[in-house]
Amino acid sequence: MPPSLLRWSALLMALSLSACDDAPRFTQAEPGEARAGGATTVNKADRNAFSLPSANLPPTRRLDFSVGNSFFRNPWVIAPSTTTARDGLGPLFNTNACQNCHVKDGRGHPPAPDALNAVSMLVRLSIPDTPAYAKVIEQVGVVPEPVYGGQLQDMAIPGVAPEGRVRVEYEPVPVRFKDGTQVELRKPRLQITDLGYGPMHPETQFSARVAPPMIGLGLLEAIPEAAILANAQPAAGNKAIAGRPNWVWDDAQQKTVLGRFGWKAGQPNLNQQNVHAFSGDMGLTTRLRPFDDCTDAQTACKQAPNGNGPDGEPEVSDNILRLVLFYTRNLAVPARRDVDSPQVLAGKNLFFQAGCQSCHTPSFTTTANAAEPELANQVIRPYSDLLLHDMGEGLADHRTEFKASGRDWRTAPLWGIGLTETVSGHTQFLHDGRARNLMEAVLWHGGEAEGAKQQVLAFNAEQRAALLAFLNSL
Ligand code: HEC
Ligand code: HEC
Repeated sequence: MPPSLLRWSALLMALSLSACDDAPRFTQAEPGEARAGGATTVNKADRNAFSLPSANLPPTRRLDFSVGNSFFRNPWVIAPSTTTARDGLGPLFNTNACQNCHVKDGRGHPPAPDALNAVSMLVRLSIPDTPAYAKVIEQVGVVPEPVYGGQLQDMAIPGVAPEGRVRVEYEPVPVRFKDGTQVELRKPRLQITDLGYGPMHPETQFSARVAPPMIGLGLLEAIPEAAILANAQPAAGNKAIAGRPNWVWDDAQQKTVLGRFGWKAGQPNLNQQNVHAFSGDMGLTTRLRPFDDCTDAQTACKQAPNGNGPDGEPEVSDNILRLVLFYTRNLAVPARRDVDSPQVLAGKNLFFQAGCQSCHTPSFTTTANAAEPELANQVIRPYSDLLLHDMGEGLADHRTEFKASGRDWRTAPLWGIGLTETVSGHTQFLHDGRARNLMEAVLWHGGEAEGAKQQVLAFNAEQRAALLAFLNSL
C-alpha cells in the first residue's frame, strides 16, 4: 500500500475504532492511559522511578514496604554471624542482595568484557530430558545439570569452590531496513570457564537471563487467570500468532498451575519466585525451600555451616519472606509521559499497525480479590499477555522450561521501559540483555513475531522515530 493510502486507512481505522469505548485511540490519549498501573501509579520519572510503593497504599501500610525494601536492598552475610536476621549467605551464591541484580528495582545487564562476576545476569543449566525424568520435569520444569544443579553460581563462601565464571562474547549480525539504513545487532556467545567441579555433562543446555524490572508485579499477579487464558490460541488453531500459557509446579500447593513470572513464565506467583531467588541466587533457605542449592557432588557446600535458627528455623524467616513479598507486590508503575504528543500517538498507531499488540496486550483489569486491596479492580496497561510465544531461532536458548520450548519466551511487559536508562543507567533489553537499544530489541523478534518485525523493517526514518517515541513514553 502506498504511504498516503496507509495513512488514510490508519485514520479511518482510528475513527471507526473510537466509536467503541475500550478501543485504542490514536488521535488523542485514551482516558486514564497515562496511569499504566491504575490507582497504584506514581508520578515519578527520575532514577528512583521504580522504587516507590503503590500510590494508593495508606501510610499505615508503608512501613511494611520499607522494611521489605531493606531486606531486598541490604546485603546478607555469611553464617555464623552476629547479624542473625541476615546471615546464611551461600555456600554457593551469585551475589549478596536482591538489589545487586534488580538494580534500583530495575533490570540487570550482561557482564562487561572484563567483569569478574556476571552479577545481574545469571545462567540456568539443564540437560536434555528423557521419560525417566518425568517427575523431575513435572516439579522442576527442567533436568538440572547433575553436578552443578539448575543454576551456575559464580560466588561461594571461603572453603567452597565457586562453580565457574561466565563471559559473553558477541558476534555482529547486520540487518537492513527497506530504505537501505543498516544496523548491526550483536549475537551473544556464552563462555563458562574456571569450572569448580570438573567438566559439565556434555549435553548441558545454558540459558543466560538478566534480572527483569520489579515494577507492577503485584498487578500482574492479580490478573484473573481466565483473562490470560482468553488470549491463548487453541493448539489446533493455525494462526500465525498463538500465545500459550506455561503450566508450572506450585511448591506450596503441590500441583501444576499457570506460570506468570520469569522470562519463560516458569514461576506461578511472587512468593515462590522470591523463595527461589533467595535459594538459587543467594543460597538462603526458607520454609518452602529448606535446603541449600548444593548437589550431592558438592560436599563442601553440603557441609558448610548454615544460618538456621536454634530450633531449625530457616535462614529467611516467614516474617521476612512476608515483608519481601509485600514489597515485591507493591513496587509501583510510573505514569507514562507525553501520552498526548502527536509523535507518540503516531507511534502508538504504528505499534498497532505492525501487530505488536497481538502479544503485547495493552490492558487488563485486575481481579476484585487481589492479594492486597490496593491492587484490586485496577485497569492496568502492562503491554503483555503473559503468554509464551515462539520467537524464532535468533532468540532461542534451545532449553525447555515446563511447557516452554527452547524458542519460547513470555511476552515481556513494556510498562516503564522508556525509563530504563534513567533508572538502570543502560538500555540493554531482552532476556539476555543482547539488545543495546529498543530498536535492536524489536529487530531480534522472529518466529511468531516475524510479521511484526517485517512491518518495522519497512518503516521509514520518521515512522521508526515515532515507534520509539511511543515505546519511550511507556
Ligand atoms: C543474581 C541476580 C539476581 C538476584 C540476586 C535476584 N534476582 Fe530476581 N531475578 C533475576 C533473574 C535473572 C530473573 C529472571 C529469572 C528467569 O527468567 O528464570 C529474576 C526474576 C525475579 C522476579 C520475577 C520478575 C518478573 O518480571 O517475572 C522476581 C519477583 C524476583 N526476581 C525477585 C527477587 C528477589 C525477592 C530477590 C532477592 C531475594 C531476587 N530476585 C534476587 C536475577 C536475580
Ligand atoms: C509474537 C509475539 C510478539 C510480538 C508480535 C511482538 N513482541 Fe515484543 N516481545 C515478545 C516477547 C516474547 C519478548 C521477550 C523476548 C526475549 O526476551 O527474548 C518481547 C520483547 C520485546 C521488547 C523488549 C522488552 C524487554 O523487557 O527487554 C520490546 C521493546 C518489544 N518486545 C517491542 C515490540 C514491538 C515494538 C513489537 C511490534 C513491532 C513487538 N514487540 C511485537 C513478543 C512479541
